Amino acid sequence: MNYQKISTALLLLTSSIIPLHASATDEQMLKQEAMGIVKQFGGTLKPQLVKAMKEGGPVHAIDICATQAPKIAKQLSEKTGWEVKRVSLKMRNTNTATPDVWERGILEEFDVKQASGTKAGKLTASIVQDGKFRFMKAQGAQPVCLTCHGTNIKPKVQEALNKHFPKDLATGYTLGQVRGAFSLSKILEE
Ligand code: HEC
Repeated sequence: MNYQKISTALLLLTSSIIPLHASATDEQMLKQEAMGIVKQFGGTLKPQLVKAMKEGGPVHAIDICATQAPKIAKQLSEKTGWEVKRVSLKMRNTNTATPDVWERGILEEFDVKQASGTKAGKLTASIVQDGKFRFMKAQGAQPVCLTCHGTNIKPKVQEALNKHFPKDLATGYTLGQVRGAFSLSKILEE
């Protein structure tokens, strides 16, 4: 492809996804802001999870995760002004993790991309929709995650999961698969 064709293609692409009130620079900044919040979420939750696993095993860690994860999401939302959550095609917490139409489509896309070789941790997506900037970042299943999300769940762990989440769908994952995604949105100023 020559230069002119490339720039025409880029122009078509960007003009179709970026409305007039959010410039490309704005989008770049919003993306960076969202990435920072995702880092804070993961950087707060994962150490607590790992610590709880070490100290009290997975059953204790389920208690911690079930209380701490929604709390961290809420605190980050209050602190940053973004709506912060985690979503999945196979939800554990159906109250918080059920995806809407855009999120569902992106999660399906993430699965396809991961299956064809892209690392889950590299998958992101964003859109300007209904006056909001929306951002998603996939979370891959790492070894530690499989204790509670894998294919071979210990009976005691299963029992604890059933107690908290009777409709749990979030098991059966293998290493590297997309477990879910952080999903953030921010209302754009007019
Ligand atoms: C000790 C068990 C345990 C481990 C280990 C664990 N999780 Fe979870 N996971 C949970 C519980 C419990 C919830 C529900 C938390 C909530 O209510 O927000 C959850 C929820 C999630 C969600 C939110 C979507 C949903 O389905 O509710 C994602 C995404 C997720 N886990 C990813 C991971 C990843 C990635 C790892 C590894 C780094 C991991 N989990 C390790 C127990 C665990």
